[in-house]
This record gives sequence, C-alpha cells and structure tokens, in this order.
Amino acid sequence: MTSTRSPAPRARKNADAILSYVQEAGIEITHILDTHPHADHFSAAPYIKSKIGGTTAIGEHVKKVQKLWQEIYNLPELPTDGTQWDVLFADGDTFMVGEIPVEVIFSPGHTLASITYVAGDAAFVHDTFMMPDSGTSRADFPGGSSADLYAS
Ligand SMILES: [Fe+2]
Repeated sequence: MTSTRSPAPRARKNADAILSYVQEAGIEITHILDTHPHADHFSAAPYIKSKIGGTTAIGEHVKKVQKLWQEIYNLPELPTDGTQWDVLFADGDTFMVGEIPVEVIFSPGHTLASITYVAGDAAFVHDTFMMPDSGTSRADFPGGSSADLYAS
C-alpha cells in the first residue's frame, strides 16, 4: 500500500540506501516498479518518486487487493482504484527502460496481484521463490494461493 505521508527515518533506511546509490552512480531513474502490494510491507515508490522522479507502476490487480484490504482491515477511506501508482500493468504489457525492453508477466500466488518484470535475461520475480534469509514466498496472506504460486 502506498502513502503520501513521508515515512519515518527508520522506515526509509532501505529506500535511502537505494537513493544514495542512484545519486552517487549518476543513474537516471525513469521507472519505480512494484511487483506486488503486501500487508507486511508498504511501497517506497511514492517516497522515491518524491526524491528523484520517475513513473511508479504495479500490476492492475492491485485494485482487487485494495478492495480486499478495505473490507478485511476496515479501511473505508482506502482508494481501491490503484491511483496511488502512475501505471497499472496488465499481463503481457511491455515498456522500455532506456534501450531495454521489459515484459510484464502476471504471476499470482504470493499475492493475487503479483507480477514479474522480465528485462533481457533477468526476471524480477518478487516473493515467488523461497530464498533462505532473503524474502519469502508465503501464500497465507489474504488473497494468496499456494496453488497459484506453484503454477507461477
Ligand atoms: Fe511480499
């Protein structure tokens, strides 16, 4: 879930590390890509965008997650149209990052809105794979599905 409020300094630690690297390396940011929304971590996309610009994006099924959260977590004020991001990708959408084509693949299971970004021979698979001490592919949050995760 995104927020327009600036996160607390401790909550910005990882985003600030990314921003420092980007600025020191002189990298131009064109896209800030979320792979999925999740109840256990918020998006840093609005914060990063506020610092260096760029187009924020996530999968179009984020709207289903927002509707689920609105009901389960009693968040009547939560917008459920995905307008917190600039772009909502559908399965099969493509876009360019510089000269690199990127394809979006719907890969549900971890969440019902998860997507994978494939750029060249790299795939950014979010929490689809289980990696010791580095993320989780759990499917037990609302909207998750172990069968869908396995298929993805
Ligand atoms: Fe996650």
